[in-house]
Amino acid sequence: MANLCILGGGFIGRFYAESLVGRRSKDKVKVVYSRSETTVDRFAKDYQVPAAFTDMEAAVSHQDAEIVIIALPNYLHEEAVMLCVKHKKSVLCTKPLGRTAEEALRMLEAVEKAGIFGGYLEDLCYTPKFQKSLKSVQDGAIGRVLWAKSRETHPGPHADWFWDLEAAGGGAIVDLGCHCIEISRNFIGKDIRPLEVMCWADTQVKPIDAEDHAIGLVKYENGAIGQFEVSWTFRGGMDLRDEVMGTEGTIWVNSWLRTGFEIFTSGEGKGYVAEKAEVDKGWQFPVGDEAHELGYPNMFIDMFDAIEKGTQPQETFYDGYVVNAVIDAAYKSAKTKLWEPVDLKVWRGKTGVTKPSVFQEYDADHWLIKTEKLPNGDQVTIVRHKESGKVKEIVG
Ligand SMILES: NC(=O)c1ccc[n+]([C@@H]2O[C@H](COP(=O)([O-])OP(=O)(O)OC[C@H]3O[C@@H](n4cnc5c(N)ncnc54)[C@H](O)[C@@H]3O)[C@@H](O)[C@H]2O)c1
Repeated sequence: MANLCILGGGFIGRFYAESLVGRRSKDKVKVVYSRSETTVDRFAKDYQVPAAFTDMEAAVSHQDAEIVIIALPNYLHEEAVMLCVKHKKSVLCTKPLGRTAEEALRMLEAVEKAGIFGGYLEDLCYTPKFQKSLKSVQDGAIGRVLWAKSRETHPGPHADWFWDLEAAGGGAIVDLGCHCIEISRNFIGKDIRPLEVMCWADTQVKPIDAEDHAIGLVKYENGAIGQFEVSWTFRGGMDLRDEVMGTEGTIWVNSWLRTGFEIFTSGEGKGYVAEKAEVDKGWQFPVGDEAHELGYPNMFIDMFDAIEKGTQPQETFYDGYVVNAVIDAAYKSAKTKLWEPVDLKVWRGKTGVTKPSVFQEYDADHWLIKTEKLPNGDQVTIVRHKESGKVKEIVG
């Protein structure tokens, strides 16, 4: 059992509290901090939190703040992490870890130097569908991963600071791309080094300085490619989808808009539909248990178990740092229009990995390219001579 302190009483702070308090959890939210009296009082009342502060350090240093959960705007993550370092509190930080890799690295190094626990709250790597997909990949069900694409698009975030380039550290890439990059990285293998990034980003619709739409490719050392698609201008709700292609199979995951649950309403009555839903009449695509489908309960279980056992969680501050380094390269590439290297000052995975050969032999002289049954009933096999490189088909 742990006593928890939540910093930030806004959108994600409340989602975290719902996941922790609403499920007869043995872990208790005992302390909360938010900037305004109104927000902190409402939060404390809604979730029966005994100690509520508008002073961040008072909350972090409180005796009942054993584990501090950072749910503050991006520009406050470093300040909050440093307070946890100062008061030697275990710290869990929401995504993105930093606005830049430089900021994330400072947080990583400070936490490790202080010997405190640092967990990265990347919830979309804890959803039930993601966890099952990852297990299938790790068990070899789709062979060697060649391409891992993740998409998060919606009509844009709910609070002012997200739209401020300086406060957020970027636009849709830093806000949504952080999820997509870490999802692809998990599928490809976290020990495989991301080498370089090619990214298109533009401000297509919104009157902002940051990008509201971007697509990026991340090249990995083993030859696999990651892809992220992010937008703050998508219409129709929140589109969360992943696709993984391997030498032996394929995975398609749709986490939000088409989950097999549909409701039609003429508009009578009022109610919340789902995160980022744009309309509340006509056909609706609600989500049964949003917190669970977004991975929050699994994520906190992993974090608290790791703290108790003295082990590493699935998502660490180091992972947050790697994601920020990929994002930095994406921003650079969007400007230069070139493949830009991922500058990882600290790399803890494998080195010198090469692209493995998965060629299949047809016979001693030929490689097999493919075999297919045609509509006329013929079985065609296409092979390539190992020495001459000549390609031929054998019909049998
Ligand atoms: N899926 C996810 O994991 C997920 C989803 C949404 C947001 N987030 C992350 O959570 C963090 C917070 O986002 P949010 O959507 O909850 O934002 P929000 O604006 O809804 O809430 C932020 C909270 O911080 C407070 N705050 C704002 N400015 C402050 C300041 N200058 N000083 C002190 N407190 C201040 C606000 O009053 C509010 O209580 C961000 O880093 C965001 O990227 C994560």
